[in-house]
Amino acid sequence: MCGIVGYIGNDYAVPILLSALERLEYRGYDSAGIAIIEGDKLVVEKKVGKIRELIRALWGKQYKSNIGIGHTRWATHGAPSEVNAHPHTDERGLFAVVHNGIVENYLELRKELEEKGHHFRSETDTEVIAHLIAEYYNGNLFDAVLKTVKRLKGAFAFAVITPLEKDKIIGVKKGSPLVVGLGKGENFLASDIPAILPYTRNTISLDDGEIAVLKRDSVEVYNFEGVPVSKEVFVVPWDILSAEKGGFKHFMLKEIFEQPKAIADTIGGFLSQDLTLPFDINRINRVITIACGTSYHAGLIGKYWLEKYTGIPNEVIYASEFRYADIPVDENTLILAISQSGETADTRFAALSAKEKGASVIGIVNVVGSSLDREADFTLYTHAGPEIGVAATKTFTAQLAILYLFAQLMARRRGLIDRDGFYRAVEKLNEVTRKVEKALELNGELENLASRYKKFKNFLYLGRWLNYPIALEGALKLKEISYIHAEGYPAGEMKHGPIALIDENMPVVILAPRDRVYEKIIANIEEVLSRKGRVITVGFEGDTVLKNKGEVFIGVPEVGEDFTPFVNVIPLQLLAYHIADQLGLDVDQPRNLAKTVTVE
Ligand code: G6P
Repeated sequence: MCGIVGYIGNDYAVPILLSALERLEYRGYDSAGIAIIEGDKLVVEKKVGKIRELIRALWGKQYKSNIGIGHTRWATHGAPSEVNAHPHTDERGLFAVVHNGIVENYLELRKELEEKGHHFRSETDTEVIAHLIAEYYNGNLFDAVLKTVKRLKGAFAFAVITPLEKDKIIGVKKGSPLVVGLGKGENFLASDIPAILPYTRNTISLDDGEIAVLKRDSVEVYNFEGVPVSKEVFVVPWDILSAEKGGFKHFMLKEIFEQPKAIADTIGGFLSQDLTLPFDINRINRVITIACGTSYHAGLIGKYWLEKYTGIPNEVIYASEFRYADIPVDENTLILAISQSGETADTRFAALSAKEKGASVIGIVNVVGSSLDREADFTLYTHAGPEIGVAATKTFTAQLAILYLFAQLMARRRGLIDRDGFYRAVEKLNEVTRKVEKALELNGELENLASRYKKFKNFLYLGRWLNYPIALEGALKLKEISYIHAEGYPAGEMKHGPIALIDENMPVVILAPRDRVYEKIIANIEEVLSRKGRVITVGFEGDTVLKNKGEVFIGVPEVGEDFTPFVNVIPLQLLAYHIADQLGLDVDQPRNLAKTVTVE
């Protein structure tokens, strides 16, 4: 959801800014731009489209600047166009601003500034920031920024430079992510860690309400009152290779194949973490899971495990629906906030609002040091490494692993299982890692299947119980990256509506492992077949019943009934991937989407 970068040092700024932007491109890619201080002048270059358009535009210009800021945009206010692309400047071109988030009161501020004689060029909310800074500037950029932030409402992060003070970049965080990277004789600013990984692993995560002043040899952090704040340096555990494609055609494919490792590392991480919770677990009589997108689907599966092993009721609610509903929450409620990035605005704000009402919050996040990580009372980490592909894959199965382990932990803490029971459950999950590895051998089969089915315009995905959320996830993957309409549905609900859609042009992917609902799903398969639907079944290898039904049978390794989501999601991820790839689509950066959605 827009990416911001900044560089100040002794190297040429432009190549560093462009490379950092490319690593942030998964956050948005409608347009991109940079601002640098070249000699005594502010130079702004921007282009509609992906970063490569900007790179082309800058080809041969040989800027020598050592300081600059950059931006890749996911449009909120104003269509993708050159004029709406960032950086934005004030009228005299003295202050350049890149911004992520939304200034909610921008119309009011714009009117006020227009009355004072300011002329605006773009339709964006960002431009008011540049004009406000110019309005307040009285020979001290920091003071002008302090005055400006007090006027802005909403959740945002921005960076500003000016040729009037060539020795600094100022970065501000309130609601949207912003990380400082510490180098030797150089410092960096970015919305997310992968942007700066080639240069440094030493970082400072800014908290909401903080301002960083980056100079070549120093970084100082202040609060919005201008009072210095001392910050800890966090050394990022990821290396640069983990954020590279490593020979795979796309990040998404690489990440699909990294799932056995992601699950194994997550189990290892969980077992080595101090799991002393800062609240009394026996007090909890209700769990509410809040999440968005793929994380929400993981939460739906976690509910079945938690209720099965602990008996504690667990609702799962889209974070965007939770926040403005009157859902009863009190100090006996536990909120499980699941977010790969830890920055999704809907999830964070829902968690914070529940916390205000007295609930305890456990975050399940992949990005250590992210906002949710810091805002939650306790965090459980998925150790999936950086996920760059916009469509979540390895973080999904890693989230499943954490949710399964969490259910076992709760059962153990409540005396429902003994120590051995807990470790037996862990061992079973460990074995699943190998089954997932085996399921990945289906890659070639799914590639062939994709070429056969890519021409269809609609897909239905059906599953029951633990595999209903997998049907939702399979459909989401296809929609996200292939732009093919797909619906996930509980197989038993099909007869109440979606069955009317079925004809010979409707591929129906049906998840049918041999579990407690197997007989029921076989009946649902018959319902689809008798209406000429094109049935693709996913079931355990060697299932002769399924082999004789439908057009295609995909055999996944047999696992215990708790674990079918882990192996069933693999062919669905691969199917979506290969269809999108064969259709020539941009798998890692699908249109209109962003990896981290920091607006509500
Ligand atoms: C975006 C991404 C999805 C992701 C969702 C939630 O929509 O494109 O892949 O599942 O956000 O993200 P989170 O970081 O909170 O898990």
